[in-house]
Amino acid sequence: MPVSRDDVLAWITAIASVLAENKNYLTELDAAIGDADHGANMDRGFKAVMNKMPEIRDKDIGTIFKTVGMTLLSTVGGAGGPLYGTLFLQAGMKTAGKMEMTAQDWAEALEAALNGVVMRGKAEPGDKTMVDALTPALSVYKQAIAEGQPLHIALQRSAEAARQGMESTIPLVARKGRASYLGERSAGHQDPGATSSYLILNAAAQTWKNSA
Ligand SMILES: Nc1ncnc2c1ncn2[C@@H]1O[C@H](COP(=O)(O)OP(=O)(O)O)[C@@H](O)[C@H]1O
Ligand SMILES: [Mg+2]
Repeated sequence: MPVSRDDVLAWITAIASVLAENKNYLTELDAAIGDADHGANMDRGFKAVMNKMPEIRDKDIGTIFKTVGMTLLSTVGGAGGPLYGTLFLQAGMKTAGKMEMTAQDWAEALEAALNGVVMRGKAEPGDKTMVDALTPALSVYKQAIAEGQPLHIALQRSAEAARQGMESTIPLVARKGRASYLGERSAGHQDPGATSSYLILNAAAQTWKNSA
């Protein structure tokens, strides 16, 4: 079965709860190399998104994603808010009018989302940002569906690639965002944005595990 609009709403709800559960963890990661607000930022943003649920419940997937993006843009400051806002807005453009997504639709939405983040933040893989989790997640996902794997298997592999990408940020020296102000001292710490990106993609793999 493709990913339905209800599955998308379930994913958004799962993101809100996993970010609430990991608020302190994300804040601790950001305390080490940033300004200790990433957990609070993401939690505040997705709590605001949850408040929009009644008005998006019966909308198409594109409208749901666009509403998430607009809400993050308007409620989350710093670097993370605009970047995640762009991510969801771009996914929303690709899924405009859709009531369900195939495995290929999700590949296109994720690709547009990542391109939006890169266009806005100008980070490359290896700069120690969320791009280090999102880039391998997209390429592994695309590879899996090219092999003919069903959506839920592709998503599982994609989430695992995001996890590895997140861990790969530990030894890196940050070249973008606040952590870059630390220079060499940023090495040895996991990037908070790569961590939230992993949590978000892993929530999709967990929520859409019956989709094909
Ligand atoms: N230019 C960028 N491109 C991509 N991601 C970035 C960029 N700058 C920062 N980030 C991500 O944003 C995260 C920090 O988010 P957050 O703490 O919410 O914002 P701020 O850094 O403004 O306090 C970083 O861990 C990193 O993953
Ligand atoms: Mg911060």
